[in-house]
Amino acid sequence: MSRGDVEIHLQVNGQPRRVTAPVTARLLDVLRDDLGLTGAKEGCSMGECGACAVLVDGTAVNACLVPAFQAEGTAVTTVEGIGRPGALSPVQEAFVRHGAVQCGYCTPGFVVTGTAMLQEGSCGDRQALAERLSGNICRCTGYRQLLAAMDEVLTGDAAVVEAPPLRVGECARRVDAEDKVAGLCEFTADLPLPEGCLHGVTVRAERVHARLEAIDVSEALAVPGVVRVLTAADVPGELHYGNAIADQPVLVSDHVRFWGEAVAVVLAETLAAARAGAALVELTLTDLPPVTGPEAALAEGAPQLHPDGNLPVHQRLRKGDAAAAIEGAAHVLERTYRTPAQEHLYLEPEAALVVPREDGGLIVRAPSQNVFFDRHHLCKTLGLDRKEVRVIQQHTGAAFGGREDIYAQIHAALGVVLTGRPVRIVWTREETQVASTKRHPATMTYRAGVDERGRIQGLEISALFDTGAYSSWAPNIARKALVHAAGTYAVDDISVDVRMAYTNNGISGAFRGFGAPQVAFAVESFVDELAERVGMDPVAFRRANHLGIGKTTATGQEITGSCGLQACVEQAVARAEQLAAQRPPPPPHVDRGRGISTVFYGIGYGNGIRDIGSAVLELLEDGSFRIRCGAIEYGQGLLTVFTQIAVEELGVRGHQVSIWTGDSQETPDSGSSVASRQTYVSGEAVRQAAVRLRETLLGFVAEQWGLDVGSLRLGEPGVLDGEGEVLCSYPELYRACTEAGIRLRRQARNRAHSTKLDLGDGQGDAYWPYAFAAHVVDVEVDRRDGRVRVISLVAAHDVGRAINPLLVEGQVTGGATQGLGFALHEDHRLDEGVPVTLNMNTYRVPGAGDVPEITPILVEDPEPTGPFGAKGVGEPVLVAVPPAVANAVAAATGCRFRRLPIRPEDVLAAQERSP
Ligand code: FES
Ligand code: FES
Repeated sequence: MSRGDVEIHLQVNGQPRRVTAPVTARLLDVLRDDLGLTGAKEGCSMGECGACAVLVDGTAVNACLVPAFQAEGTAVTTVEGIGRPGALSPVQEAFVRHGAVQCGYCTPGFVVTGTAMLQEGSCGDRQALAERLSGNICRCTGYRQLLAAMDEVLTGDAAVVEAPPLRVGECARRVDAEDKVAGLCEFTADLPLPEGCLHGVTVRAERVHARLEAIDVSEALAVPGVVRVLTAADVPGELHYGNAIADQPVLVSDHVRFWGEAVAVVLAETLAAARAGAALVELTLTDLPPVTGPEAALAEGAPQLHPDGNLPVHQRLRKGDAAAAIEGAAHVLERTYRTPAQEHLYLEPEAALVVPREDGGLIVRAPSQNVFFDRHHLCKTLGLDRKEVRVIQQHTGAAFGGREDIYAQIHAALGVVLTGRPVRIVWTREETQVASTKRHPATMTYRAGVDERGRIQGLEISALFDTGAYSSWAPNIARKALVHAAGTYAVDDISVDVRMAYTNNGISGAFRGFGAPQVAFAVESFVDELAERVGMDPVAFRRANHLGIGKTTATGQEITGSCGLQACVEQAVARAEQLAAQRPPPPPHVDRGRGISTVFYGIGYGNGIRDIGSAVLELLEDGSFRIRCGAIEYGQGLLTVFTQIAVEELGVRGHQVSIWTGDSQETPDSGSSVASRQTYVSGEAVRQAAVRLRETLLGFVAEQWGLDVGSLRLGEPGVLDGEGEVLCSYPELYRACTEAGIRLRRQARNRAHSTKLDLGDGQGDAYWPYAFAAHVVDVEVDRRDGRVRVISLVAAHDVGRAINPLLVEGQVTGGATQGLGFALHEDHRLDEGVPVTLNMNTYRVPGAGDVPEITPILVEDPEPTGPFGAKGVGEPVLVAVPPAVANAVAAATGCRFRRLPIRPEDVLAAQERSP
């Protein structure tokens, strides 16, 4: 025991434990680092998220706030002590059954809090329950399933029901749910440290825009335990990388372009030494004039942030003659709309653990949305060959597009290349806030001409997005915005311009919706304003202009196949009216209003980009089946959906099929888990691979037994004949096939169709297929304080086919809740380029008490090219929410809000201004 250490005695999960720890250690450190109990997670480090919750003498506490020495003599229960797979507690079991688990990072905290609530007894109605759970943040689920599960547990109404089978169309349990509720899934920071592992801490320039004149690392290197300080000069390959434009340095060499940009990484034997070293790296910086907005970036004489100027992207769409059509219209209207930066706030901060291989290569473990793309960046910047880098996706504490960019992996891998030792880097929440990408802030101006019957004659759209210091996915996001800017409306004469400007405002990148939420807010607000100008009901106005089968989009693409837009509108409106009819009138100081939005969403990469899903189905020696697919599960349910597809096509049972994903060495490249594409693109590859394996197996048996292949099928025990008799078990079949030289791995590749848009006029088949949705939102606005309360959200989505309705509904409630955050709360604020929303106390996301009754309606208009008719749903939900809320607030208050978020002070100010 060294000076400054204390000895602590406590009971942990019923076992007496003795720990020696620094006096500054937190209970969370002792549990995770000393006792290896990593079920409690670190999300915010300041008592805001509840991911670290444990029971201390039966009371739920946030272990990140408890000094370890204060736990002396207490009994601590972590999630590992509450239940385990096969012996789940009632709370865990209810979470699994209700689909209250997605990425699983928040789940242990909810299990602990729920267990404490169960011990305390019922806490009242649903609102009281939500308030009791409001100390825990979940960014994935939207809380409805969590609340339903807890309601059931607390009221003792837990139904004993058999788990639905893992078949297509069934509300099957997630295949990873039991491990997640038991806290057994290892996220990157949970992995045991390999021997000799170094800790990395990033040195960040605290300037908005500056020239880096010099770096002095001498004092940092003098800190005991510091092994090396990495700088740009150490990068062996290409210094700059990027998804579309290679404009971002691995570490700053000369030009700091945003506050918090990484300049160096200190590697040390301990985290404390790395932090001490990082504090002593001296940067000599000369301030440069900051560019803090896209309009300023494009102004004459603006400081140029990159060699090719401040406008990396300008995309155009031209169809017909918009100006002439507007000129001749009966009504002309022009309006401008603005949206803020939105932070993903996935609960797991960025992390990476990289270890050297004996052959000189690397194994990289990290959260990710595409291990192959991560490998590409690593190879380019580190000067390595693909064979030398294996990237394995660790359990990922959600992503929402934010993990399409590479973060800590690249620095940790550089450290391994230069030291030959394993390196771990785990970012703090503050680092995530300043250095990860955000949703692009956008300003969008719409001008339209409308005839007397409410038909849009012409539409001109100009959008300016702030891409921040680097481009990330700017060209691709601009294209999505371009294609979706006209919304769900068939307009013959239209022009759209989308520009992306560099600024010193952090970095903007991919976020659920990928450019569509900004333009959807604009176009759906604008359509309501047009309807008002013409004197039409908003729903009737939409119907008069809607896309449908045989109509063409702004890019000139004819809609064919699946289009459930009208069904979504009808069902959403009808359901909202039913709900409203049951509601008592509001108090006198409250105004009610209803808003609608309709959206469409292109599934997949689009624009003719190679969009391929690839999967392997194999029969293993033990007689089980395995799917291999390079796609990524980060909470959306892909493991379960793919398993259901394989089970359905093979004809076996769920427990007979396992799945292996997200490994650049062992699974086939299936592209990114983005663009709501994996069910549609890779799910179909899984289906086709299953068909091929089934045909191989049945063909072999038919030949061996001399039977008609059409009379055979696969079943749980093995291959069955027409009478249902077992001809051979799967282990027997494996041996027979192997002896006969039959390959028991079948691979399928499935390509999504789209064409490259014409560069001049943006015409072409931009995406395939399109998902459609209609949302109807009812709000109450309190005239006394300006607070907007969403009282119901009906979300009708044409998903083609719901492979697992429980999971689809989870996507709907989760996406809707993020959309509510974007509409009413979320704004990653900067003060002249310096971020001010650095943690969950200042960047507010919806909690359990903020979420209304969300009613998902699944419209199934099957898509002929999708697996069993499925399309995708991950992103359209979020896209549809903000405009429906804004339209509802306008209906309630008579004031139009053209800027998000709609805050109480904005409502009060607008009401004061209005007559
Ligand atoms: Fe402890 Fe967030 S409350 S990590
Ligand atoms: Fe709650 Fe992901 S499941 S944060």
